[in-house]
Amino acid sequence: MSTADLPTVNACLNSASTVLILAALAAIKGGHKKTHGKLMSAALVSSTLFLVGYLVHKAFHGTTTSAHMGGFRVYYLTLLTSHTILAIVNLPLLVGTVWAAARGNFARHKRLARFTWPVWLYVSVTGVLVYFILYVWYPAPH
Ligand code: HEM
Repeated sequence: MSTADLPTVNACLNSASTVLILAALAAIKGGHKKTHGKLMSAALVSSTLFLVGYLVHKAFHGTTTSAHMGGFRVYYLTLLTSHTILAIVNLPLLVGTVWAAARGNFARHKRLARFTWPVWLYVSVTGVLVYFILYVWYPAPH
């Protein structure tokens, strides 16, 4: 295994976050507060590991692009741009949402979570899509 394998590891971490975020919502809707907290904490760990893996890959391999998409490229760039902007927006949202839960301020937690949850889900799902587009469906020729 080398740093060239990181995109695959990162896509797995994003997929794990997606499953954990969905399961955490199901848990809280079922009234399982402790399980919800544990699942969200696990999702935070996998998303943080993803961020580390992403930055390490970028440091070693730079930006990955594929010129072989034809007209599809504009859709890809829209997906990538929305993914990146919302990933940045999601950082302070995550901190605020977890901070409110840690302080027991669940009214604020729920208010913030209304935005944090869908944004986080979008970022995780589109992260996996970006991986498939760049490395599986339209890989750049070596
Ligand atoms: C960023 C991570 C998190 C997100 C996105 C999130 C999201 C949510 C959502 C969507 C709800 C349901 C709100 C509603 O029904 O309107 C909720 C409720 C709740 N969350 Fe989280 N959560 C996160 C982390 C945590 C953590 C780490 C804990 C606990 C230790 C926690 C404890 C709770 C509790 C106790 C409730 C129920 C509040 C109530 O019904 O009064 N959450 N959260």
